[in-house]
Amino acid sequence: VFLIIGNRLRLRAIERSDLARFTVWLNDPEVRRHLSLILPLSLVEEEDWFESMLKRPLREHPYVMEIHQNDDWVPIGNIGLMDIDDTARSAEVGIFIGEKSYWNQGYGTEAMRLILSHAFQTLNLHRVFLHVDETNTGGVRAYEKAGFIHEGRQRAARFDDGKYIDVLMMSILSEEWKKVDQEQGNAN
Ligand SMILES: CC(C)(COP(=O)(O)OP(=O)(O)OC[C@H]1O[C@@H](n2cnc3c(N)ncnc32)[C@H](O)[C@@H]1OP(=O)(O)O)[C@@H](O)C(=O)NCCC(=O)NCCS
Repeated sequence: VFLIIGNRLRLRAIERSDLARFTVWLNDPEVRRHLSLILPLSLVEEEDWFESMLKRPLREHPYVMEIHQNDDWVPIGNIGLMDIDDTARSAEVGIFIGEKSYWNQGYGTEAMRLILSHAFQTLNLHRVFLHVDETNTGGVRAYEKAGFIHEGRQRAARFDDGKYIDVLMMSILSEEWKKVDQEQGNAN
């Protein structure tokens, strides 16, 4: 099996048998809050998403994040690249940790570092970007720790919990990532 392996977690391909777990995660109000999901999600709709995902280029298939626990691999969330642009060599990244008990333990940052290494070292991309709600303090912090740079703000781009909020745009270029990766490698 081809896996992307980090210090504390690994990324593997999604199987049909993961979909029931994803549906539970994505119906949790706290998990979905910053994912622009506002309507209840059924297993059938998630299966539909899976079928259309399979038709997209292989490089854009998301991965399951798993952590090693008691000799077993435990799924905690998803991460993946979207809309890879072969001319600009650019892609958007999306992430969520569905198991809330694993938030704020550095797994989001590590998963981002892994997917960036995959994007720059394996896929030879030049730019990876993301959108994050201004109210998603933990997300913004995780992306800053992984080396993302703030590049813009979309005003009132989302309506969340009765209020318009801004969406922050962040990105990292391959040369910036190389520097961050070297510094972090030396720090370990
Ligand atoms: C966003 C997400 C992926 C981040 O992953 P994570 O594993 O929780 O993040 P990390 O632990 O690597 O980093 C979070 C950082 O934010 C900090 N943080 C979290 N909440 C905070 C708050 N309210 N105020 C200040 N800092 C906060 C944490 O302490 C940590 O920083 P530290 O390591 O310097 O202490 C995860 O929380 C998640 O999946 N959330 C729900 C879905 C989601 O929002 N997805 C992203 C959409 S863009």
